[in-house]
Amino acid sequence: MVNFISKYAGKINPLSLKEYKDRGGFQGFEKALFQMSPSEVIDEIKDSNLKGRGGASFPTGLKWQFVAAEGASEKYVICNADEGEPGTFKDQVLLEGSPMQIIEGMMIAAYAVGATKGFIYIRGEYSKEQVIFKNAIEVLRNEGYLGKHILGQDFEFDLEVRSGAGAYVCGEETALIESIEGNPGRSRFKPPYPPQFGLWGKPTLVNNVETLANIPLIISGGAEEYKKYGTASSSGTKLISVSGNVVNRGVFEVEFGTTLREIIYDICGGIKKNKQLKFVQLGGSSGACIPESLLDLKLDFNVLKKHGIGLGSGAILVVDEETCILDFIKMTTKFFNHESCGKCTTCREGNRHICKIIDRIIHGNGAERDLRLMIEIATIMKESSLCGLGQAAPTAILTTLKYFNGEYMEHINGFCRSGVCHPKGEVK
Ligand code: NAI
Repeated sequence: MVNFISKYAGKINPLSLKEYKDRGGFQGFEKALFQMSPSEVIDEIKDSNLKGRGGASFPTGLKWQFVAAEGASEKYVICNADEGEPGTFKDQVLLEGSPMQIIEGMMIAAYAVGATKGFIYIRGEYSKEQVIFKNAIEVLRNEGYLGKHILGQDFEFDLEVRSGAGAYVCGEETALIESIEGNPGRSRFKPPYPPQFGLWGKPTLVNNVETLANIPLIISGGAEEYKKYGTASSSGTKLISVSGNVVNRGVFEVEFGTTLREIIYDICGGIKKNKQLKFVQLGGSSGACIPESLLDLKLDFNVLKKHGIGLGSGAILVVDEETCILDFIKMTTKFFNHESCGKCTTCREGNRHICKIIDRIIHGNGAERDLRLMIEIATIMKESSLCGLGQAAPTAILTTLKYFNGEYMEHINGFCRSGVCHPKGEVK
């Protein structure tokens, strides 16, 4: 475990500028503002090899470069704090414990891309974090860190908090933008991407909380220092939120390169009540269900990609041997069916049909052809849904069908090894 981006959270008063600065806070911003040009800041972020921590792992410096290249007089920086992926609660630690670090990251981003206005979109359920942020913004405004002529320089930036209202899809950047504009949270077609056509049609940089928390540390310490953490293809550290059947649940910061086995057994103390592990779901409900045999995989974007697995938000749900695969899948498919915004047919209808098939199998009315049908529907959803919700929703179906096909067949043959599903019509 490391304490790099999480070095402030829980150790300082989140609303004390003095305590934040005493531990190195705002060194990154001051270095950028006084010693670096915007393009030098972007180059440093590119050199650091930082990749987005919201789920897509897109190169951060490149995204910044796209926004900086736009000639518009008005640009925006948005911090995506709509942490709604089930099992994901890592941003909450930063939002609650270190708001100034995130704001500093947004300020450096604004300076680099030429934005003067920012929004932090915080999920509605995080009402305490919204209050913390509003207060932190007030403190920084009063101290001359936000507003016009920041630190006496010709740089202007101000920030507003916007609240989500419980829709999972608003974590998708274009639905989030629609929501800030006051429209229903529904994804837009991409391209154009937000760096070209974002909030109110202006160039907009959208970065996740954790991505932004890395920025001050990369700028103050330099890209070379930063790359000492992690692996060649995945620099830095990752906040992971571990839940489920493990002894120690919670948020931990680990270097890229750490294996899933080390996380589960060394950091989290193994499986509760000494049971056997069945699988881990990596990246929240939209992530892959990974069997025991793959636990030595390292957290590394390239290594995981070779196995067709995404790191997603870094959520790790640990599931023990007693869990029924079908019962588990029922829960995730219902979630996505409920959260689909309904705009694109593949996501709306695909989720609905998969739910129906799972119910059919659980109730003892499934057939082997249902498994082929689900793979067909899931593949179409993955390839042609409008946004990440529909594209990632069937990941759990596809991976459990791959690794636990036998258990699906057992249900089709009227048997549930966990004793949760009833073959002839009822679910306990
Ligand atoms: P994306 O790969 O389309 O885009 C990533 C980021 O880069 C976005 O901010 C996008 O605007 C920007 N971008 C990409 N290409 C660009 C270009 N040519 N010009 C300018 N900007 C560009 O991914 P998106 O839609 O943000 O998210 C989907 C991904 O997220 C999928 O990989 C999916 O598996 C994953 N996902 C993760 C979840 C989680 O665990 N948090 C939940 C659902 C999906």
